[in-house]
Amino acid sequence: MADPAVIRVATDAAYDVMVGSGLLGTLPDLLGPEVQRVAIILPDDLWGPASAVGDVLSSYDVVGLPVPPGEDAKTAEIASGCWEALGDAGFTRTDAVVAVGGGATTDLAGFVAATWLRGVRVVHVPTTLLGMVDAAIGGKTGINTRAGKNLVGSFHEPAGVLCDLDLLATLPAAELRSGLGEVVKCGFVADPEILTLVEEHGVPDPRSPVLRDLVERAVRVKADVVAGDLRERGGEAGRPGREVLNYGHTMGHAVERASGYGLRHGEAVAVGCVYVAELARAAGILADDVADRHRTAFTRVGLPTGWSGATYGDLRERMAVDKKSRGSSLRFVVLEDLARPRILTDPAEEHLRAAYDVMAGGA
Ligand code: GLY
Repeated sequence: MADPAVIRVATDAAYDVMVGSGLLGTLPDLLGPEVQRVAIILPDDLWGPASAVGDVLSSYDVVGLPVPPGEDAKTAEIASGCWEALGDAGFTRTDAVVAVGGGATTDLAGFVAATWLRGVRVVHVPTTLLGMVDAAIGGKTGINTRAGKNLVGSFHEPAGVLCDLDLLATLPAAELRSGLGEVVKCGFVADPEILTLVEEHGVPDPRSPVLRDLVERAVRVKADVVAGDLRERGGEAGRPGREVLNYGHTMGHAVERASGYGLRHGEAVAVGCVYVAELARAAGILADDVADRHRTAFTRVGLPTGWSGATYGDLRERMAVDKKSRGSSLRFVVLEDLARPRILTDPAEEHLRAAYDVMAGGA
């Protein structure tokens, strides 16, 4: 077993993300010496990892908190059930939450940990690629309401994140590909070596060194971005800061919602990245070869590069609503070149439309 990579997220409350195989045994190190009681929040269908984590934590006073799989866990009702269970267990400030599951589970568990006694330790053990490279890192926590996803939440950084690649061995292939959508995004905005790797290897075997390299690289990209701008206030000299992680997400969120979540998140992000590359090309910001490379890279990992399931007007409206939280302007993270992101505000309508025509034609 190769040594794990330890990637520091250097925020004020700095923490480590460990990436490697056979890592579950190191969970107590991330919990720290004071913790006596541990609440494990995990989807109620995740039997394998649940019993492995239970074995590792057998010397603690463990409270098991099974929650529904996926986004169904991210409700006020489920969060309230977790708070009541923590209260019944007499959970104190020196106890800790361990989240085992995909991004929805770590979002919920992070929120429960952020709010119980105004904040207790949480360690994330993501079991999906998307969770490892995105949701479990960076301290965003939240639940959904009728009006939309993640509208209630807080920043609460974990005490540590344990990315045990063995947990990906049983991940459905479509979920692995979806996670690669965010990995490839990191390649475009910050680490082009990721693009070279996926172009050479396509979808890597979950146990291969290539996947480990990709996870490490994507985690480093996110760790660097978050360390510079945890609360998404913007980067230096007008650069995007944490918002850069939203590359491809303005259109990505619109197609994800318009598809009724029939498209997985990483699939929608791939379509959104192709769209925004076409937008930057139409606006004269991005050279043809880099714009074209979006199609090549996402295709290599089996992700869609076009979608025609909704009209331009529908998606235009959805993008505008999405961005109203930032004021009335339509904002995109675009590339000037590989690893050179910037913000484009209120692009010309003809460029928005031209990029849609390419995206819809490439479905
Ligand atoms: N997933 C985007 C972010 O963490 O900011």
